[in-house]
Amino acid sequence: MRRIYLDNASTSFPKAPGVLEAMSSYLSQNASNPGRGSYNHALQAMELVIACRSKLSTLFGCTDSRNVVFSLNVTTALNTLMAGLLTREDHVLVSGVEHNAVMRALVLHRIPYSVIPCDKDGRIIVEAMPELVGARTKALFLTSASNVTGTIQPIREAGEAAHRLGLWTCIDTAQGTPTVDCRLEEGVIDAIAFTGHKGLAGPQGVGGLVLSSNLANCVTPSVGGGTGSRSESFAMPDLLPDRLEAGTQNIVGIAGLSAALDFLNTQGMMDRTSCSQLLSYFLSDSRITVIGPATMEERTSVISITVEDFDLAELAYRLDAEYGIQTRYGLHCAPLAHTTLGTLQTGTIRFSCGYATTTEEIEYTIQAMKELLYR
Ligand SMILES: Cc1ncc(COP(=O)(O)O)c(C=O)c1O
Repeated sequence: MRRIYLDNASTSFPKAPGVLEAMSSYLSQNASNPGRGSYNHALQAMELVIACRSKLSTLFGCTDSRNVVFSLNVTTALNTLMAGLLTREDHVLVSGVEHNAVMRALVLHRIPYSVIPCDKDGRIIVEAMPELVGARTKALFLTSASNVTGTIQPIREAGEAAHRLGLWTCIDTAQGTPTVDCRLEEGVIDAIAFTGHKGLAGPQGVGGLVLSSNLANCVTPSVGGGTGSRSESFAMPDLLPDRLEAGTQNIVGIAGLSAALDFLNTQGMMDRTSCSQLLSYFLSDSRITVIGPATMEERTSVISITVEDFDLAELAYRLDAEYGIQTRYGLHCAPLAHTTLGTLQTGTIRFSCGYATTTEEIEYTIQAMKELLYR
């Protein structure tokens, strides 16, 4: 059976052209540890890492690529930021549609938070922020787009409001990139957490933080270990990225991500015609409820729906078993978002297109939906 992959919000498939080759080439021809040797291959590996940092700096508006810190994914990046910036005496604001990458990390680190209310489409109500801020409020954690509804958040407006209130603005770009332009900007956005394997179409196991110089000075390390620098000392080096990059990084993943960033740069924004076609179909069927905005301008390529009188788990199962269409059903690791959107009991079935999704695949999906719902 053919495979129609519509779970790109979970992880991208296929990976960008060039990713596999870059990873394979690094492993088969180099595989040395950057910063840990002065021989040719170790230096080349270092150059590879520096080049990837530089591409990420360009993408996320960072003027000093040493402030790009690698980690495993956006989840570990957010944990690094919270552990290094906040204490249990602090308090933060979050949106009502945050992923558990933010919520569980806050709970784990015992950092108190308040939830900014959202409108019916899951967009934060920026005007509600001031009344939630107290003397200990230190930061805003906001996703650039919801992984449940695809709703694009007003990150600039929220970042400016946060700064007027004296808060750092930290953006989770797991779902927004590359659709939502998110860059560091003084007085607006101070920290960006990214992941390589979703919209960037890179491999799993590589993500990180992009920090403004002001914020970078305030983040202490939460993991200790070797960095290849200042080896005479038991203390973590003060300089970035070493301060926050203990141990050998995922260099093979960085090689793949670097190739994915080259692809993004050459192809530009993803063609969203197929996703738009799917949204129009969902909106036109009276048994289907689209959760979130009705226009593509207000959303990423993620569409969550509920269906009248049809069990969503069964729908996801039958789409896969009978048509090879891979979607995701349930709460999508974001119970707060489902509480906000009123779908905590039902969950949703989520269709998420990627850069390679074709209009033909969407026509096939629409036909499959019609057969399952009305046959
Ligand atoms: C909004 C959002 N934040 C964070 C994450 C976690 O991403 P990762 O598993 O790459 O850490 C996801 C993953 O689905 C997400 O959608």
